[in-house]
Amino acid sequence: MMAARLPLYLLRLVKKIAARVLIVSGLDSLRYKRDYKRKKINGDALEDPALVDGYKDEGEVERVEKLVELILSQVPHPRAVLDIGCGTGRYLRQLQAVSPDSVLEGIDISAEILDKYARPMVPGAQFHALDIETDRRFFRRRESSFDLICLIGIIQVVARRKVRTILRKVHHMCNDGGVAYIQFNVETAKKKSSCGYRRYSVEEISALLEECSFQVIKSGRTDILADYAYVFARKHPATR
Ligand SMILES: C[S@@+](CC[C@H](N)C(=O)[O-])C[C@H]1O[C@@H](n2cnc3c(N)ncnc32)[C@H](O)[C@@H]1O
Repeated sequence: MMAARLPLYLLRLVKKIAARVLIVSGLDSLRYKRDYKRKKINGDALEDPALVDGYKDEGEVERVEKLVELILSQVPHPRAVLDIGCGTGRYLRQLQAVSPDSVLEGIDISAEILDKYARPMVPGAQFHALDIETDRRFFRRRESSFDLICLIGIIQVVARRKVRTILRKVHHMCNDGGVAYIQFNVETAKKKSSCGYRRYSVEEISALLEECSFQVIKSGRTDILADYAYVFARKHPATR
């Protein structure tokens, strides 16, 4: 009996070890990155960005409205805003509606999502197709350029070991006193979200932000999004 169970046990063990190796090496996020980069958007979904696969998890228009309200409660009149991993541009679209004087820019790794959704949906905003993990040119050119930088639902799809590097880039691009807004799948008993994304605790993200010379100004869970948490952090003046 015991002998019969041994191969099953070994198989499970090998699977567990392989999953661990993928997470630690960051190779699992390469899969998301590749999927997003090659994302093909089906025609029916074009009517409604909430239907685009991979963008459903953060809910519909009313939720986006409430979250933008939350963001603007901390940064009421941002002159320049960057949304990293902007996807369909739905947050920028809402920002444009309620803060029409803000200059808006978005970054996404998927050129297709920017062309099909973000550009038509947010006229006047600038969009850049690039990989925030590996980009050097954009962030170097945009030192101290933004009052508000949003990372909504992106931290959980990039490699864990790359998060610090990305936050340093965010710090570099924030104005003195500028604010970073990070929204992410929060840690629960389940290791991964329903889409398979990794989760972080508020403490983990706050500690990373502080390591990158930000000061956390507000954080928490939101009843707007059951599975998510957020952290607002301000760039310390005179930290470059
Ligand atoms: C879960 S979606 C969230 C999209 C958007 N923030 C929203 O809530 O509607 C994650 C987004 O991050 C983008 N993304 C993933 N890895 C990226 C990278 N390395 N650089 C730039 N964008 C990336 C994906 O293409 C996708 O649009």
